[in-house]
Amino acid sequence: MKFDTPAGINPIDRMAVVGKPHDRVDGARKVTGTAPYAYERHDVVPDALYGFILGAAIAKGRITGIDTAHAQAMPGVRAIVTYQNAGKLTLGSKNTAKLLAGPEVEHYHQAVALVVADSFEKARAAAAAIHVDYGRAAGHFDLAAAAKSAKSDGGEDEDGSKSPPIDRIGDFAGAFAAAPVTLDATYTTPDEAHAMMEPFATTAAWTGDALTVWTANQMIAWTREDLATTLGLPKDKVRVDSPFVGGGFGGKLFLRADAVLAALGAKATGRPVKIAMQRPLMFNNSTHRPATIQRIRLGADRSGKLTAIAHECTSGNLPGGSPETATDQTKLLYAAPNRLTAQHLAVLDLPEGNAMRAPGEASGLMALEIAMDEMAEKLGMDPVEFRIINDTQVDPEKPERPFSQRQLIKCLRDGAATFGWSARDARPGRRRDGDHLIGLGVASAFRNNINFKSAARVRLGRDGVVTVETDMTDIGTGSYTIIAQTAAEMMGVGIDRVVVRLGDSDFPVSAGSGGQWGANSSTSGVYAACVKLREAVAARLGFNAPDPDFIDGHVRSGNRSVALADAAKDGDLVAEDTMSWSGLSRKYQQSTFGAHFVEVAVDAYTGEIRVRRMLAVCAAGRILNPKTARSQVIGAMTMGVGGALMEELVVDKRFGFFVNHDLAGYEVPVHADIPHQEVVFLDEADDKVSPMKAKGVGELGLCGVGAAIANAVYNATGVRIRDYPLTLDKHLDWLPTV
Ligand code: MOS
Repeated sequence: MKFDTPAGINPIDRMAVVGKPHDRVDGARKVTGTAPYAYERHDVVPDALYGFILGAAIAKGRITGIDTAHAQAMPGVRAIVTYQNAGKLTLGSKNTAKLLAGPEVEHYHQAVALVVADSFEKARAAAAAIHVDYGRAAGHFDLAAAAKSAKSDGGEDEDGSKSPPIDRIGDFAGAFAAAPVTLDATYTTPDEAHAMMEPFATTAAWTGDALTVWTANQMIAWTREDLATTLGLPKDKVRVDSPFVGGGFGGKLFLRADAVLAALGAKATGRPVKIAMQRPLMFNNSTHRPATIQRIRLGADRSGKLTAIAHECTSGNLPGGSPETATDQTKLLYAAPNRLTAQHLAVLDLPEGNAMRAPGEASGLMALEIAMDEMAEKLGMDPVEFRIINDTQVDPEKPERPFSQRQLIKCLRDGAATFGWSARDARPGRRRDGDHLIGLGVASAFRNNINFKSAARVRLGRDGVVTVETDMTDIGTGSYTIIAQTAAEMMGVGIDRVVVRLGDSDFPVSAGSGGQWGANSSTSGVYAACVKLREAVAARLGFNAPDPDFIDGHVRSGNRSVALADAAKDGDLVAEDTMSWSGLSRKYQQSTFGAHFVEVAVDAYTGEIRVRRMLAVCAAGRILNPKTARSQVIGAMTMGVGGALMEELVVDKRFGFFVNHDLAGYEVPVHADIPHQEVVFLDEADDKVSPMKAKGVGELGLCGVGAAIANAVYNATGVRIRDYPLTLDKHLDWLPTV
């Protein structure tokens, strides 16, 4: 099915099941420990050996020698895999650095060896006994220094095409010079880690020349393809199965070392091998959200209308890597006739930078939405009103393109009313509560909506049960539940009559989980398959009317009503289809919007920052399940607190690695850090997006949170911090005297 014209009325609009706050259909399995995760696939592979990965001790250079003899002779050791015996490995299309180093080393903790042994402890002990000699080469590890020689680099828009490296509309320089009120400020965001709870993990087994990996992955088809490429296998000899994933946040979008090395270890030993990457390797072995240096210039007239916007971002990456597209939202969020956006990419020899939840916008809004707060203050305007008067209903770069739906103003206004924004004192440092300085902050939220081709297969059984199969993943997001709701709505049965099977490359290829495209795209694929199944059911039951109703387990037309299960009396009915998109996203800009409001308390003596209250108002099309969507948004808001106040991979600029590479040194929020959180969804249905009329929401919840917190801190203290994370050392010396 092709989605190329706006959706009309369809069975989803009944919203008997879709749009309801159903509990997770996989919830009981998760809390009873019966949902199988990659490292615990005893159900399919009871006798796996254990693999342990040794990471490179240098950031850049060459392996000049590997002595494995001692390790090989240790008790229980079955095999040691290095580049010397791994055979030819080809770089997958989605990987920038190789997943097994040798002889050259591209980044710190790049895998140099895998030990396979009878137990985890034996494998780990033997890995410590491998002696590797390195020839270390000089590398670039300091973004601020490398930024001076950074090159302009185009970004990717939602169609995957390259946008120009410097995007100019009107005359930015002239308008900025002429503007009576201007801001020119630079903001920085640090390198961040996904820090998902489940590490990279794979159990691998060969049957003859066919490989199966039970792994933790967001994108089954990408990973199957890249695993086949890496190992030089035909794609149909590789099966990837990932039914449950313990968090990903972009870290599990791609094939990683655990899957490749488990496959190689299993080949070398002739036994299944399982690997869970040890936590201290996760931070430098994997991808991360790259640090940015962002310069923003705003010019406005005295009424507060922006006349000029410029946003330039510099980030770094390994040779061949991509930039952090932190200027994306600035192309679309506010009106102004004169605009400039540019991205610069420096070569760094740190681990690969890549997508982390809301790549681009998460970092970009951390800067842009502080700049908007600073500009509002210069103009003497309320920051909510300043954003509202600069709203646009069309793509500011291409005014002939309207937004499919854009309720940013309503998000801001409703949020201000709900949060009690009128209590804010525009003069910073004025509100006190005992020893604490109290501040309120706001930021707009923006994240593009992306649709990806997505297929599904649905089967109606004799028992009337509808089974859905698609390689879509559930990374904690609720995919099982919203897919079950979609099939239930389409086939007119209760959600308890639907079985959802996900994450297996034997199933039809879905959009996968990434870029907040998963929910809308994958349910649209299920919709398409269900339309076909409805047709097959109607034909089997001899309905002549073009579109009978499917409701309450029955198929109805006029006064004829037949039990749905009767259609499968003589055998299962199976239908498969793919939803694909064309055209509408070029004609209409499809984005999601929101507003974040935050109250903070800053200890007047120590400068410690605590978040007290958070509110997100989201406009993201139809909300398929308010309960799972809310969980996505509060999780994202929590991640936003981490980004604002804690998270920072500290770079050792001499030796080129992230120093704090464990969960003790890399701080993320814990329960005690998170206060009252409230989420409001505007009642929307976007017919330009899909038959589901839904959009992404899982990343929107993160976009803007950091700046809302930073703005609240400024409102509390009067000290403007432009470098994330906002730690107390950055404002302590300038706090109001007590
Ligand atoms: Mo998302 S960073 O595309 O998993």
